[in-house]
Amino acid sequence: MDRFRIEGPTPLRGTVRASGAKNAALPALAATLLTDEEVRLRRVPRVRDIATLRRLLAHLGQGSIEGGAERLHLAPAGAASPDDAPYELVKTMRASVLVLGPLLARRGHARVSLPGGCAIGVRPIDQHVAGLEALGARVALDHGYVDVTAPRLSGCRFRFATVTVTGTENLLMAAVLADGTTVLENCAREPEVSDLARLLVAMGAEIEGIGEATLIVHGVEALHGAEHAVIADRIEAGTYLLGAALTGGDVLVEDLRPEDLGALLELLAETGAEVSLEGGGVRARRAGALRSRDAETAPFPGFPTDLQAQYMALMTQAEGVSTICETVFENRFQHAAELARMGAEIRLDGRFARVHGPRRLSGATVMATDLRASASLVLAALAAEGTTWVERIYHLDRGYERMEEKLRALGGRVERVAGEETSPGATAPGEGGTR
Ligand code: EPZ
Repeated sequence: MDRFRIEGPTPLRGTVRASGAKNAALPALAATLLTDEEVRLRRVPRVRDIATLRRLLAHLGQGSIEGGAERLHLAPAGAASPDDAPYELVKTMRASVLVLGPLLARRGHARVSLPGGCAIGVRPIDQHVAGLEALGARVALDHGYVDVTAPRLSGCRFRFATVTVTGTENLLMAAVLADGTTVLENCAREPEVSDLARLLVAMGAEIEGIGEATLIVHGVEALHGAEHAVIADRIEAGTYLLGAALTGGDVLVEDLRPEDLGALLELLAETGAEVSLEGGGVRARRAGALRSRDAETAPFPGFPTDLQAQYMALMTQAEGVSTICETVFENRFQHAAELARMGAEIRLDGRFARVHGPRRLSGATVMATDLRASASLVLAALAAEGTTWVERIYHLDRGYERMEEKLRALGGRVERVAGEETSPGATAPGEGGTR
């Protein structure tokens, strides 16, 4: 398993371009199952989760070829293909559940392994299932699979009991080919959901209320091919902006929509970091002592849970006590124990973490447990005195493209040290299943 060797302290300084958003590219790839025509996607990040979904799509008969840097061209491979997503593929990436809606809409049947939980929580899909049933699907849960059948889907009115990003995306992709009109209420409003909706419209779907909590879909007979550029990764960008403040640096993230990062920019400014909009991107720099500020994660447009771990690393350097409340997932503080091994003082109490700062961080050997916890440890290591080894960075590789290269370009002293290769689906003890 590869590791990062990081020397600190080093301020991050310079300009970096955000890759395409992993969490927009994944539903976009799944959406290509809705048409027999070629779909061309641009700004697709080269990260492990994309490679995993491409393998699943190939299993389902949907070919994908690289059309140049960050470009994927997808079309049916022609042969008759299965409509099941096997456990071996789904267990390494729960976002594979995104093939459920399009397969059902296009082929009338889908059999997808239940994704199971992961390090950050149980991750149920009850809202996905309830929504597909409301559209007329017959659902069976057996032997760890969800099996959905519907010769034809009929428009309905469905209200999500919980705001769910992939749940909203699955139902959008199912409704676009249903008979009649579907009204989805209490939808997730993440930019990645809106990006999927824009791709579906480019493919011929009729969707009203994009960006709002209520989406209205008028079903159509068929969708056609399209060309689409995926939005920038706001979580990757936020990670580098937080890194600038944490390391006492100055970073401009280019080619980014500031409105996608609203809550973070306000919070960063409140901590005393200087935030500005420049050259089609966002710049953050440390300007003196950091102030502790409480934060509570929430669905968009609130503070994103995917930046909570990185924000916690920042608060270890802020004056005073900050309280971080994680409202979205039930077990998303695993980075706290690893940060504490580097010298942070963090007290956990259920959904609350209280960070006492500033505390001097020193290099240590730490272990990544999930994608965003890994990013938090890397940022802390850049601010810590001495050498840090971050183990199991395959977690990072799931969602950060060429992170060591981008950090080195910002002055970070980061080196990837290859470890013995693990099979792509390998999960270390305690991974895959819920904690
Ligand atoms: C998406 O996961 C993202 N993944 C996650 O990013 C992100 O953390 C999450 O949304 C929240 O923003 C992708 O888009 C591929 P949810 P998703 O369904 O859709 C509960 C990363 O780091 N829930 O919005 O799986 C659920 O348990 C990843 O890139 C139900 O109860 O998250 C959670 O508490 C991690 N029933 C809450 O809703 C359901 O049917 C939000 O989950 C579905 C969800």
